[in-house]
Amino acid sequence: MKAGIQAAFQPTTLCPELTAQIVEHGYRGEPPLLASVLAAGLADRILTLPEEGSDVVVAWVRQICERYSLPKAVIAMLESACGTARRVLRVHPETQISEDELAALEHAIGRVIDGCLQNEQRAAEVVETEEVEAAMAGFLARLDDADPASAEHSRAVALWCKRISRRLDMNEEQTIFTARCGLLHDVGKTVTPSEVLQAPRSLTKEEWVVMRAHTTQGARMIHDIPLLRAFAPAARWHHERLDGLGYPDHLPAHEIPLHIRIVTVADCFNAMIGRRPYRLPMSPNAALEQLIAHRETQFDPLIVEAMIDVVERADA
Ligand SMILES: [Fe+2]
Repeated sequence: MKAGIQAAFQPTTLCPELTAQIVEHGYRGEPPLLASVLAAGLADRILTLPEEGSDVVVAWVRQICERYSLPKAVIAMLESACGTARRVLRVHPETQISEDELAALEHAIGRVIDGCLQNEQRAAEVVETEEVEAAMAGFLARLDDADPASAEHSRAVALWCKRISRRLDMNEEQTIFTARCGLLHDVGKTVTPSEVLQAPRSLTKEEWVVMRAHTTQGARMIHDIPLLRAFAPAARWHHERLDGLGYPDHLPAHEIPLHIRIVTVADCFNAMIGRRPYRLPMSPNAALEQLIAHRETQFDPLIVEAMIDVVERADA
């Protein structure tokens, strides 16, 4: 795939920096990156899109959109990239962006957006609600028995996930799916020894190994229930980080799905504002500052921004 892009986007037709970014991130780039690449390229007058290149852009964007279950927020960013270019062209008519090139790009993006909207109309796979609800309730009951604080935290995380998803204009199916991921993300703690889970102090190195196993254990437990299998990755990967320093798989950013990035932000925020046996709760503002301090390395900046909006709106 990368070779295809490379061939289509020769530096003679596209600026070298932009080409390098596209080639480097290829089909696995992220929507925010894509939008910023487009916006930067257009706004800085460096993008000269050849007519034959537009299909490659369409294919590339479509793959990204499908991979990430494109939220409307990304569509908005793409549209805003075109808007930026239009403004640049209006203010600086001498730019290298021609009306024709811009029209070609807008047409290409328009086709992507149409495709995305059609995708959204195809109902995402939401399995039979009652059965899923019952299976999830079973897990939550076990978590309530093992550690009521973890169960309470999970319910709160599900709510935060729902609010963040709505803030990102995700559709109802994606919102429900993400909230369920939030509800189930910590079920592995049902088998974490209580002396580790409820230790009234910082954990030792050995205890951390035991604690971290809740990710793989939870994923295994969920995977064993066919109806819930789609939620297993959230249990396994909610402690992964954008910089690849998370656990258990040290995933690189492009392999962490959007809905799990949402769970991660919701989980960390709610953990920080909650009481722990060994520390007092943080204020929501202090917790948001932590999210901001660790965006790019730990958290997706787009989700952090949405979380800030959600919290500020709740305060209003
Ligand atoms: Fe966790």
